[in-house]
Amino acid sequence: MSVHNNVKRVTTHVLYEMKENGEKISMLTGYDYSMARIIDTAGIDVILVGDSASNVMAGHETTLPITLDQMIYHASSVVRAVERALVVVDMPFGSYQGNSKEALSNAIRIMKESGGHAVKMEGGQEILESISRILTAGIPVMGHLGLTPQSIYKFGTYVVRAKEQEEADRLIEDAKALEEAGCFAIVLEKIPADLATKVAKEVSIPIIGIGAGGGVDGQVLVVHDMLGINNEFKPRFLRKYHNLFEEMLGSFQRYIEDVRSGDFPNDQEQY
Ligand code: KIV
Repeated sequence: MSVHNNVKRVTTHVLYEMKENGEKISMLTGYDYSMARIIDTAGIDVILVGDSASNVMAGHETTLPITLDQMIYHASSVVRAVERALVVVDMPFGSYQGNSKEALSNAIRIMKESGGHAVKMEGGQEILESISRILTAGIPVMGHLGLTPQSIYKFGTYVVRAKEQEEADRLIEDAKALEEAGCFAIVLEKIPADLATKVAKEVSIPIIGIGAGGGVDGQVLVVHDMLGINNEFKPRFLRKYHNLFEEMLGSFQRYIEDVRSGDFPNDQEQY
């Protein structure tokens, strides 16, 4: 860990060591300064500035519309809040598929303009050229396999991936290819737990799961989902630590009542 303001920062190397020592890695998404400050203070290892910002922050149905500039805006807000966690930034749809030179310049923009520590990219062997080019610039890359939401129009649905042997075999090959290319970790999303456990055993880099069971090296959740801010999303893998939708709704309703009744502000709440 490197030392900054007396706080030991989490680096990609620390994550390798955690895997080697059998210590589980905790990761949550973060998109803004205030939430990232709380998450970092809690002692999270990795904050992912996910392109799920497209859903939970902007209200889009998919992750596809979010732009590179918007991702940089979210990531720079998170970076300003964080003293300890490793900050990983999703490369948005269209910023790395197809043209590896453009992929590199987009990854460089993320690193320069947001101050993030690494990028994440969805896909396996089909995006290896972009991954390798980005890695040559010294930018750490986290892979993402299984359910890759940027390909939702190819899949057609958000159901569990790689249940069939052929897709499971391809996923294992992809994970090995990402490891060999030099990725520092891989997110596995919504695949059978047995398959995820096998991948975590067969590659030496950390495997972080979401809906991939407990046999992997760490877990990630979307912060709005685990806090229950988004009360419509209830997949089986999600553990809700709060029901903030209901709690916040109640607070907003009480505030509205207090303003309307003249109860707020009272004598102590004015100058
Ligand atoms: O964008 C995101 O939040 C993600 C996680 C679900 C892993 O990619």
